[in-house]
Amino acid sequence: MNALAATNRNFKLASKLLGLDSKLEKSLLIPFREIKVECTIPKDDGTLASFVGFRVQHDNARGPMKGGIRYHPEVEPDEVNALAQLMTWKTAVAKIPYGGAKGGIGCDPSKLSISELERLTRVFTQKIHDLIGIHTDVPAPDMGTGPQTMAWILDEYSKFHGYSPAVVTGKPIDLGGSLGRDAATGRGVMFGTEALLNEHGKSISGQRFVIQGFGNVGSWAAKLISEKGGKIVAVSDITGAIKNKDGIDIPSLLNYTREHRGVKGFDGADPIDSNSILVEDCDILIPAALGGVINRENANEIKAKFIIEAANHPTDPDGDETYMQTLEESLSVTLNGFRTYKGLCGRKRR
Ligand SMILES: NC(=O)c1ccc[n+]([C@@H]2O[C@H](COP(=O)([O-])OP(=O)(O)OC[C@H]3O[C@@H](n4cnc5c(N)ncnc54)[C@H](O)[C@@H]3O)[C@@H](O)[C@H]2O)c1
Repeated sequence: MNALAATNRNFKLASKLLGLDSKLEKSLLIPFREIKVECTIPKDDGTLASFVGFRVQHDNARGPMKGGIRYHPEVEPDEVNALAQLMTWKTAVAKIPYGGAKGGIGCDPSKLSISELERLTRVFTQKIHDLIGIHTDVPAPDMGTGPQTMAWILDEYSKFHGYSPAVVTGKPIDLGGSLGRDAATGRGVMFGTEALLNEHGKSISGQRFVIQGFGNVGSWAAKLISEKGGKIVAVSDITGAIKNKDGIDIPSLLNYTREHRGVKGFDGADPIDSNSILVEDCDILIPAALGGVINRENANEIKAKFIIEAANHPTDPDGDETYMQTLEESLSVTLNGFRTYKGLCGRKRR
């Protein structure tokens, strides 16, 4: 199911449960503002390349809009709209005085040099600078972006508006970033996992984990979970998937991925088919990459007893339904709910 259709569907279900007025429901479904910009840059070889950038500002009723900027080939308007809407619900559930927004550029950052990424980010910022700002909309990192991207946005924005470090979060510490921000989302995943397991009389120690995505969120979650005694038995990223039933040595994998830019080829584990990562045998599955990966096709094959949703909307509604049916068939119960201030959702099968 398309990401926006899925998010709208879930919102309408929530709206029905809350008894929201239909006019208010409609107003909350339509974003405050959608921005689409063309970003053309000279590549290092002198040729021109054009990319499409988006910023969707969903709602500012509770405060300035807030949300990440994603660089990924699959960035498209409906998904950005869905992610912006989800940010509104996340900041509201966490009761922080912000609204929701999201942005992105349809590009493959692994195929662009550092200089090309800098030019692209600066052109994108030039096109949207009048519509973002500390009191309106504050971008942050997401897939394919990080502190360096935020530093470029900050610098370019400051050329127009004067020195403005608060225009982005997730910037380098030297530019006013917060200590611990880099690890924060992965740490939230670890806390969410711990809280969910504690509720069921268990702890992280000794549990077997599978993690899809080994970027900022997935790698920090893996590091912190393994430090608590959790066994990471399989991991995947865009380069491939690896498995070691005795547990992958995460510090060694972190060193390896820094050098090789991916998990593929790590000699402390065996390569497996990337398509099988979500259905690998484990106690806890952590999708920490793309949306909609748990769907009708694979939901009934998932062996994990718990799913911790670290990625944004990793479970497609059809997948949710299939998973629920599978649970019912095996006389199971599901618990789900927001587990941490990050809005992580824990699902349990038994
Ligand atoms: N960074 C944050 O603070 C933050 C906050 C909230 C939510 N999130 C969400 O967490 C998820 C991951 O974000 P991140 O910041 O870690 O991004 P990242 O770019 O640092 O890492 C993404 C990881 O996913 C992998 N990946 C990409 N396509 C894949 C595919 N087809 N199959 C398997 N792996 C694939 C990449 O190789 C990489 O390891 C996203 O859904 C993002 O929206 C991130």
